[in-house]
Formats: sequence, C-alpha cells, structure tokens
Amino acid sequence: MTVRMAVFGTGYLGATHAACMAELGHEVLGVDVDGEKIASLAAGKVPFYEPGLPEILQRNIKSGRLRFTTSYEEAAEFADVHFIGVGTPQRKGEFAADLTYVESVIDTLAPLLKDAATIFGKSTVPVGTAKRLGERLRRKSPAGDALELAWNPEFLREGYAVQDTLHPDRMVLGIDDTRSGVAESVAREIYAQIIDEGVPLLVTDLATAELVKTAANAFLATKISFINAMAEVCEAADADVTVLADAIGYDARIGRRFLNAGVGFGGGCLPKDIRAFMARAGEIGADEALTFLREVDNINMRRRTRVVEMAREAVGGSLLGARIGILGAAFKPDSDDVRDSPALNIAGQIQLQGASVTVYDPKANENSRAIFPTLGYAKSAEEACAGADVILVLTEWDEFRKLEPSSLAHTVRQKKVIDGRNCLDSARWRDLGWEYRGIGVRVHSD
Ligand SMILES: NC(=O)c1ccc[n+]([C@@H]2O[C@H](COP(=O)([O-])OP(=O)(O)OC[C@H]3O[C@@H](n4cnc5c(N)ncnc54)[C@H](O)[C@@H]3O)[C@@H](O)[C@H]2O)c1
Repeated sequence: MTVRMAVFGTGYLGATHAACMAELGHEVLGVDVDGEKIASLAAGKVPFYEPGLPEILQRNIKSGRLRFTTSYEEAAEFADVHFIGVGTPQRKGEFAADLTYVESVIDTLAPLLKDAATIFGKSTVPVGTAKRLGERLRRKSPAGDALELAWNPEFLREGYAVQDTLHPDRMVLGIDDTRSGVAESVAREIYAQIIDEGVPLLVTDLATAELVKTAANAFLATKISFINAMAEVCEAADADVTVLADAIGYDARIGRRFLNAGVGFGGGCLPKDIRAFMARAGEIGADEALTFLREVDNINMRRRTRVVEMAREAVGGSLLGARIGILGAAFKPDSDDVRDSPALNIAGQIQLQGASVTVYDPKANENSRAIFPTLGYAKSAEEACAGADVILVLTEWDEFRKLEPSSLAHTVRQKKVIDGRNCLDSARWRDLGWEYRGIGVRVHSD
C-alpha cells in the first residue's frame, strides 16, 4: 500500500531514503532547510556522489512520487508519516553528539501536526534521545497523545547506499512501549516489499534500537583498529599484516572483512559515533564499559601520524620543500565525502611540515578544496604525481588499484610510493623499480 511520507534532512541518508521509499511505490516529500540542496534534488541532481542514486531520483521525480520542499507546513499538510534524517555531528570541543538539528525538526514540526502521525527517527543518536524527543514532540503539538515516535536506525554504507536501503541485511525498529504501538504496523506497511524478501525486522524498545546502531559502529571501528594495532606490531617485528589478516580471517568467528590495515577509518559516522557513545556512557554511569573505545580512537589517529612519518622518511628526513603527490581524498572509495577523512588529514599535516602537496581524487576534489583550499588539486593521478618525491595512495579507489606504475614513472621525481591502504600490487610496483612501502607489510620483499 502507498504511504505518504516526509523525510526531514536530505543529505547522504535522507536523500537516499526519500528516493528509495519512492522507488518502493510510496509518495515522498523530501524536506531540508538548505534551499540550494532542495533545488538541486528537485531538478534531479544529487548534490553528492552516490552510485545509482541519480537514476532512482530522476525516475521517481518523473513519476510524480518524489518531490522536495523547504516548507515544513507543506510536509505537515501532506504526510502523516515523518522520517528524521538530519545530521548529528560531534559537538565542537566535546565528544558528545550535537542534537540541535534533530531537536529543531521536532520543535518546528510538532506545532504543525494537528492529527495523528507517526515519526520515525533514522539519525544516529545517543541512547535515551528517542524517549526524550517523543515526550517533547507530544508536549509541543496540538495532536499531543495522537503522535508516536519510533526509532529506525540506518545502517547504509556510502557507496552502496541504494543497495543497502532497498536490500538491507536487517532492519531495526525501536518502539515506545508506553504508546499504542501503531508505529510497528506503519513500518511493516512501508517496508512490506523488503520484509517480503526475507529481510529480518527486529522490533525492540527505543533504547535498544538506538544502541544497536552505536554498538555496530563501535564494533566496526574496533575491528579496523585491531588490525591497525597488529600492523604496528608487524612493523616492529618485520612481519606482514596482510598475510596475518588473511590467515586469521579464514576463521569464521573472525572473518576477513574489515580487516584491512591502512590509514584507518574516518567519515561522517564512525569517529563521531564512537566518541558520542563514550560521552553518553559516561552520562549514564557506564563509562568504564567503553574506555577501550578511546584506545580504538587513539590507534586510528596514530595511523595518520605514522603515514606522515613514512612520507618524511621517504624524502630523507624533512618534508620542507618536498613535493608530495596524494591519490585519494575521500574517506572511502565510491564516495565524495571528506568529513574527517584520513587522506585529507594526512595531506594537511604534510603541507604543514613544509611540503608542496598535490591531491587528486576521482570525485572528492571539490569537497576537499572547500575544506583545504591551500592544497594543490590535480585533474588526474598523473598530474598529481608530476615531479613528486613520493606518492601516497590514501583512498582505495579502483582507479588507483589499477594504476599502471609505468604510466607514472616518467612524471615523478623519485619512484617512491606509500600505499596507505595496502591496495596496490606491491610486487608489480617493486618489479618495475619502485620503492614500495605499505602499512604493516615488510619493507623488503626480496
Ligand atoms: N552518511 C551515512 O552513511 C550515514 C549512515 C547511517 C547513519 N547516518 C546518520 O544519519 C544522520 C544524517 O547523516 P548524513 O550523512 O545524511 O548528514 P548530512 O550532513 O549529509 O545531511 C544532513 C542534512 O540535514 C539537513 N538539516 C539540518 N537541519 C535541518 C532541519 N532542521 N530540517 C531539515 N533539514 C535539516 C542539512 O541541511 C543536511 O542536508 C546522522 O545522524 C548520521 O550519523 C549516516
């Protein structure tokens, strides 16, 4: 059955959710306070890079099922199901999450809701937020007790956002057990096609649903930092972390995925989510349970410094006056997201030490320039590497994996490459006379 819904916040999460819900046959209104973003989406243009999303967006705008607005009044009039997908960034100077955007959605929407409605939160929030927001919503709305707020955390991965929204591993729905419980039936209606495919829907209380999301991110961050800690040990012992990961990864209890040593995690989710998780645990008296996450964070940040050191060593001990070519700026491939990107952070640190840095990313140059306008930006890998004393590969785009070392040999000043993602064919680079350094891999293969 077709459901009329509004989606508040049309960033990576919200724009994808809105377009995918229309793809499932629902009538969807995307709402954002950013007029430019709304104009772009309404014109069928996704303001960020996400494979497959432009096609779904355009198809559903054309069919009339998907529209965009900046008007909360229009949204309240149009829909009785509302999704919240606005940002929950790290608060400046603190670990805790900044909840002003989610609160603002509640405060603006609540007075406009006159009749029964269901609100689903999708943003990642600290445990306890949903209960508080539900009370705030009912207090501020003429519809009062006819409103139900549920939490439906989002697990999509940038780069696979469409696939993950339409065919997720699982869905989680936290419902307020003090309310009537319509949220579950509404959710089952909205996600009927997905549920019919056999995707599990786990229905739980609000707190557990909020915790599932932060626990999942904490686990993933821990797995990455675990292998990066092993990389540090491998470097000290002259062992090879890639082989180690393969070998332990065969154990089904461990698994090989997310066990790639490298410059670590970044982006708009993992770093801020583990910090917000620690902050919230402190507030509710469970801080000891999560002190290990501080070490996870430390290991992750240490990788960035380590790669800067490796670059310094490669150019003879001082970066002053050196020319560095950096391949990759996005925090991961198939995305143009540079929020807390290890690649850009490393590029910035190297520049601060006096080197001339030129960056190339297949999709993220523009976003990077907005944050780091003083770095040089190139239109191709070859251009970024021109005259370089050392090349750093910091995002594992396919384009870089497939780089032909000989195509760069004539353009660089020295044939030196640091593979910050262990994604290159090291034997091939070495065979062609390059000095290759990876993360936690042996310096000499011969
Ligand atoms: N990006 C991901 O891969 C991902 C995955 C899972 C969960 N999440 C979570 O989803 C949430 C959103 O993340 P994102 O990456 O989409 O952020 P984003 O910054 O790309 O998008 C947030 C959007 O909300 C809009 N906004 C802010 N205040 C608003 C308001 N009062 N009303 C309407 N719109 C408003 C902003 O203009 C922006 O377009 C976060 O909590 C994040 O942790 C993100």
